Amino acid sequence: QTGMFTYDPGFLSTASCQSAITYIDGDKGELLYRGYPIEQLAVNCDFLETCHLLLYGELPNATQKADFTKLVTNHTMVNEQMQFFLRGFRRDAHPMAVMTGLVGGLSAFYHDSTDINNPEHREIAAIRLIAKMPTLVAMAYKYSIGQPFMYPKNSLSYAGNFTHMMFGTPCEEYKVSPVIEKALDRIFILHADHEQNASTSTVRLCGSSGTNPFAAIAAGVACLWGPAHGGANEAALNMLEDIQRNGGIEKIGEFIKQVKDKNSNVKLMGFGHRVYKNYDPRAKLMQQTCNEVLDELGLGNDPLFKLAKTLEKIALEDDYFVQRKLYPNVDFYSGIVQRAIGIPVSLFTAIFALARTVGWIAQLNEMIGDPEYKIGRPRQLFTGSVKRDVKPLAER
Ligand code: SDX
Repeated sequence: QTGMFTYDPGFLSTASCQSAITYIDGDKGELLYRGYPIEQLAVNCDFLETCHLLLYGELPNATQKADFTKLVTNHTMVNEQMQFFLRGFRRDAHPMAVMTGLVGGLSAFYHDSTDINNPEHREIAAIRLIAKMPTLVAMAYKYSIGQPFMYPKNSLSYAGNFTHMMFGTPCEEYKVSPVIEKALDRIFILHADHEQNASTSTVRLCGSSGTNPFAAIAAGVACLWGPAHGGANEAALNMLEDIQRNGGIEKIGEFIKQVKDKNSNVKLMGFGHRVYKNYDPRAKLMQQTCNEVLDELGLGNDPLFKLAKTLEKIALEDDYFVQRKLYPNVDFYSGIVQRAIGIPVSLFTAIFALARTVGWIAQLNEMIGDPEYKIGRPRQLFTGSVKRDVKPLAER
């Protein structure tokens, strides 16, 4: 029994920690951030309100929201030296390789002034990370297309500033598109936290050694990159484009056959989840966002969206998926929305990392803030050789 929630003893043995931040009921397909349903947050709040909620436990009132927004806005610039670090990469380096380096590189500027056991230092590190991730992701994008970096603009919203740094150029005034701004803000909210997933557990274990928060978040970025985790949004879009290229809707049956063939190692990317054995509520909200954005951009007949919806319908009626309780997850539709608003597919996971940074840092700060916490030290079941003596080389 922890507060309102009771768990069966079997579950307790699998739990890696206690947390009050995010609650998932995988059977019901329910996701709550600090008790608020994701469906309500996605419609009634913006990303910075959600950040305030995840970090401090409560939605901000108008004054708190203004103060928090000002604090984040005043930390969006990165040290000018960061661009020289970035320029060491190949132009065609994968954005997640760049982000793993850049976020780790942030620790070079702050580790000596950050005592992880000091609550104020933890708070300013959280603000710096939330504020600087959009700047770093946009810099990685600009570098890959050979365009000049755009400095943050304090008069813009969090999502608006990101689109300005991504798509603006010094040659002319960039006009933020409200459609793209709203879509990105929604995408950020849906990806903000998700209890003890692989990358969050990585951040907790890494941070438990007392390392600085920037290095711990860099470990989370590296873990999120994997195609079984955050990299699935990029893989799901590439999968849809492959099916589209090879015949589209008519070829879905052939693709599903491949997925069901154990030897093919082909997975329906964006489907399945370790916890959700029902529909991922974020996938539903992402599909709604897809509808809204494509309609507002006059792309209502986007063939890839139609293909995705048909593929989902066929899979949800197919025994292979039904028996294994495989449903769309957050990554199934997110790529279609991002592609529609002009985000290159290689940047999808970097945007996931941008959004998840608040969840990672909130979870890390929750752990470090508990006076009982100790360095993590998972144990193993040893299955190797019993003790034996070394033979001289001539006898080996
Ligand atoms: C994220 O943990 C989180 O919360 C993560 C996340 C977050 O917000 O942080 O929600 C974000 O990572 C979402 C997941 C994105 N990954 C993908 O979409 C990649 C495709 N999905 C699979 O790799 C898989 O579903 C996992 C890794 C997500 C979950 O796998 P599990 O729970 O370990 O389940 P499993 O691999 O044991 O699969 C059970 C069965 C197997 O078949 P059998 O051996 O029983 O015959 O289902 C099959 C699997 O082969 N299966 C799939 C499948 N996912 C599972 N078959 C085809 N396509 C799939 N996508």
